[in-house]
Amino acid sequence: MKMINLGCGKSYHKDWINIDFKSNNKKVIQYNLLKGIPYPDNYFDVVYHSHLLEHFSKSDAINFIKECYRVLKPGGIIRIAIPNLEEIINNYKKYLDLAMKGDKLAIANYDWIMLELYDQCVRNYSEGEMGKYLKKKQIPNKEYLYRRIGYFRDGSKKDSLVINKTTFLFKIKSIIKKFIPVKKIRIFLTKLKNKIPKGKYKQLGKFRLSGEIHQWMYDRFSLSRLLQNCNFKKLKIYQANESNIPNWNNYKLDINEEGVIRKPDSLFIEAKK
Ligand SMILES: C[S@@+](CC[C@H](N)C(=O)[O-])C[C@H]1O[C@@H](n2cnc3c(N)ncnc32)[C@H](O)[C@@H]1O
Repeated sequence: MKMINLGCGKSYHKDWINIDFKSNNKKVIQYNLLKGIPYPDNYFDVVYHSHLLEHFSKSDAINFIKECYRVLKPGGIIRIAIPNLEEIINNYKKYLDLAMKGDKLAIANYDWIMLELYDQCVRNYSEGEMGKYLKKKQIPNKEYLYRRIGYFRDGSKKDSLVINKTTFLFKIKSIIKKFIPVKKIRIFLTKLKNKIPKGKYKQLGKFRLSGEIHQWMYDRFSLSRLLQNCNFKKLKIYQANESNIPNWNNYKLDINEEGVIRKPDSLFIEAKK
């Protein structure tokens, strides 16, 4: 079986060809997928990408899905995992109504879902407001975050990892603050930046095109329509651990080592060429 994992990030498997913009090891081929998929027609049995398509503009996404179709063998499978816009909107509406009633936990959940909806699209610096939220000393809605993005289950490895990192960063920050006039330096740097707007905009453009931000969002309707418009057939929505791909759960791409869904905010869809 020839299988390719596009925009793999840190989630890859040795049985697959893994490709990403960024790579610091031999198992991941470094390539900009906006230039196409660097393989011949009818080459792969499976094309998979997780949380990649939303990083492309709408028009780039059409070209990219056409590329996925081109490199698949007839009868080959495409599997896509993507943040589910419908779920984000449902959560937004639910917590908006509860927040209006003053429910404190609902307000925290509302703040978080706004980050999923907007911060991921509009941020102008790495990790954005979402990064700041995740590094807060007190996070009131950890259980909700775990259900949304798989972080912060109390007692889990991830939970302790993130908290330790936060505490460590927090300590360093307060030590630095004591000895260095951070505020003055920041003002100086901002002034310096404003003096050279050309450089500033270049930097901003570079970040906006770095593959971190969301350029579009999808739901079960728009993703199905996109696939159908690119000639894909036999579309089906799946759970993280369900697939037509043989031995899917062995690869641990949509589930983790414990068999738990890796990115719970996802919509999973498969189709055939
Ligand atoms: C949100 S991460 C998802 C990573 C992984 N697939 C996962 O599910 O955890 C998006 C990944 O897509 C990559 N990416 C974004 N634009 C890309 C492009 N034009 N070419 C190749 N990789 C790209 C990023 O570098 C990043 O690793």
